Amino acid sequence: MNLLNGKNGIIFGALNDMSIAWKTAEQAHAQGAGLVLTNAPVAMRMGAIQELAAACDNAPVIPADATSTEDLEALFQGAMDHFGGKVDFVLHSIGMSPNVRKGRHYTDLKYPWLQQTLDVSAISLHKTLQTAMKLDALSEWGSVVALTYIAAQRTFPDYNDMADAKSLLESITRSFGYHYGVANKVRVNSISQSPTMTTAGSGVKGFDEFMSYSESMSPLGNATGEACAEYCVAMFSDLTRYVTMQNLFHDGGFSSTGVSTEVISKFVKD
Ligand SMILES: NC(=O)c1ccc[n+]([C@@H]2O[C@H](COP(=O)([O-])OP(=O)(O)OC[C@H]3O[C@@H](n4cnc5c(N)ncnc54)[C@H](O)[C@@H]3O)[C@@H](O)[C@H]2O)c1
Repeated sequence: MNLLNGKNGIIFGALNDMSIAWKTAEQAHAQGAGLVLTNAPVAMRMGAIQELAAACDNAPVIPADATSTEDLEALFQGAMDHFGGKVDFVLHSIGMSPNVRKGRHYTDLKYPWLQQTLDVSAISLHKTLQTAMKLDALSEWGSVVALTYIAAQRTFPDYNDMADAKSLLESITRSFGYHYGVANKVRVNSISQSPTMTTAGSGVKGFDEFMSYSESMSPLGNATGEACAEYCVAMFSDLTRYVTMQNLFHDGGFSSTGVSTEVISKFVKD
């Protein structure tokens, strides 16, 4: 369909071929986009990002820790040099909580780790947008998408301090979306995705059971990573130009379902 023909974008967060960012890069490339790929320097040593870059017409890979404004400046500058112009879309697909990783309970958080969770998983979106604005790096009608989870609205006990990070991420989406819309018609949205089997996802305690629960609570079933990538492409395209400052549920109907027949049937007494 060439939905992204003539557009150029930066994709954060492709760690391996399970990553939602990896699938989004593949789909954006297939729809005609030019790409620059980025991830944290440490993730690049572990990851297979060069393989993805080769499959996307040798897209440049520019390492950037998304908590470092210096790294982000070098990233946007490098991307503009490569594209010979501004950036049309950005995918923020970044999440990490040391408290989750190290199994700290929500009622016993280590606060320096909470700061890190918020910085990496939420404030990095603000830093990305502020850096882009200062460098005037995004085109008019440009589109920025950040990935989030419904634990921002409802409690899922094992999601831990990532829930607080996602609430902040969604708030930054609205607040910066206002200012960037007024300044340059840039739109900023978050996509709230179903649980998906990835490295970050499977770090959450009880994730397998949780995926099954979510599947049985969603009329359409869990949305896959591939389907999420397609939604991201739609949001980068010109077909969604007036959508901004939204948290968009991409979850097979989970967020609007109180209870499903499948789940309630488990409580029927003999
Ligand atoms: N997998 C799920 O169930 C699910 C559901 C809803 C939303 N999400 C969100 O989707 C996004 C992508 O996660 P994923 O599931 O594809 O897992 P993933 O582990 O493949 O991706 C997470 C990425 O964040 C990157 N990252 C961590 N610290 C960074 C830093 N300081 N600077 C730059 N990058 C950094 C990692 O290197 C990795 O590439 C995250 O925001 C996640 O919270 C995931």
